[in-house]
Amino acid sequence: MNLRTRRSAMLVASGPRAASNVMVGHCHPDVVKAGVEQMQQLNTNSRFLHDNLVVCAEKLVSKMPESLSVCFFVNSGSEANDLALRLARQHTGNTDVITLDHAYHGHLTSLIDISPYKLNLPGAPKKPDYVHIAPVPDVYRGKIKADEHPDEDMGKLYAMEVKKIIDENVIGQRGEQVCAFIAESLQSCGGQIILPHNYLRDVYTYVREAGGVCIADEVQVGFGRSGTHYWAFQIDGPDVLPDIVTIGKPMGNGHPVAAVITTEAVARSFEATGIQYFNTYGGNPVSCAIAIAVMSAVDEERMVDNAKDVGGYLLSELENMQQKFPDVIGDVRGVGLFVGIELIIDPKTKTPATAEARDVVDR
Ligand SMILES: Cc1ncc(COP(=O)(O)O)c(C=O)c1O
Repeated sequence: MNLRTRRSAMLVASGPRAASNVMVGHCHPDVVKAGVEQMQQLNTNSRFLHDNLVVCAEKLVSKMPESLSVCFFVNSGSEANDLALRLARQHTGNTDVITLDHAYHGHLTSLIDISPYKLNLPGAPKKPDYVHIAPVPDVYRGKIKADEHPDEDMGKLYAMEVKKIIDENVIGQRGEQVCAFIAESLQSCGGQIILPHNYLRDVYTYVREAGGVCIADEVQVGFGRSGTHYWAFQIDGPDVLPDIVTIGKPMGNGHPVAAVITTEAVARSFEATGIQYFNTYGGNPVSCAIAIAVMSAVDEERMVDNAKDVGGYLLSELENMQQKFPDVIGDVRGVGLFVGIELIIDPKTKTPATAEARDVVDR
């Protein structure tokens, strides 16, 4: 690795996304101990039976709504989303995927194809025809702005954009049905967007009506970061229910472990292929020991409440700053420890203050 690459890698590692890898604090003693003790005893690939896999899967599933009851272990968020796409294709028999603009879902070929965050870059591969990009439901500066539609239900308006894509592009132009809608339950890459009330509820309905399944990417925002719920898709009410949930980053508090949680129906369609799922390291006993310890620490140390308290404090102090500097801070928004600040150069045009934002991030 040359120095240039090292420098850019360090910037990425110290950037804002790195924070979401750790839920219970760096080097949490119980998490370290769980990993060390299991490593001293045994690590195997996941063809061998081990209690840790069962305990970890049961603990994860106990945090989910009842219908999400089957767990597949993988090693990273990318692997989780790739497997989610395979499950969706197998279950629906369809291929068309709807994703949000600016989204990032992972580094595998299958995921670059559905990640406008990468696809929008010069030199990126061409977007495949089966991928459809819906506008981000960004009520501050997105396609439909709350200040221009003060009395409207922004969630419903943005959900209609997805319905239009289904009707005009998927069914109309391509003559297909939907395979999957994939979105982070709070969009992290792509602007720290808090999805407006009713957005996921309506989108999930439209997608299912067109034969698709709904994938919630909780790789960054799961495990209580929202401060009110363990999973961010739960924020808008118990009737917002994905068919597939992908999780990663904080699950191992820095150790590579991730998972896909789905319904029995989706899992059975996958099993019926006879291909069998195997993943050498996914769900190995050491990774599972670590993930179990993370979830115990989240519960015992009331980290979800902590995200609410600390995030609430951060948000209120940032709101105070916004009052003081309204020409520079255009918007402050957040839930729990998922907080975004919009730096602008002009409140009327909302033009992003890109250089200033970079300066703040680097400092
Ligand atoms: C929302 C989201 N999904 C998936 C991924 C991919 O996870 P990983 O880097 O563990 O493969 C990331 C990584 O940044 C992410 O932010």
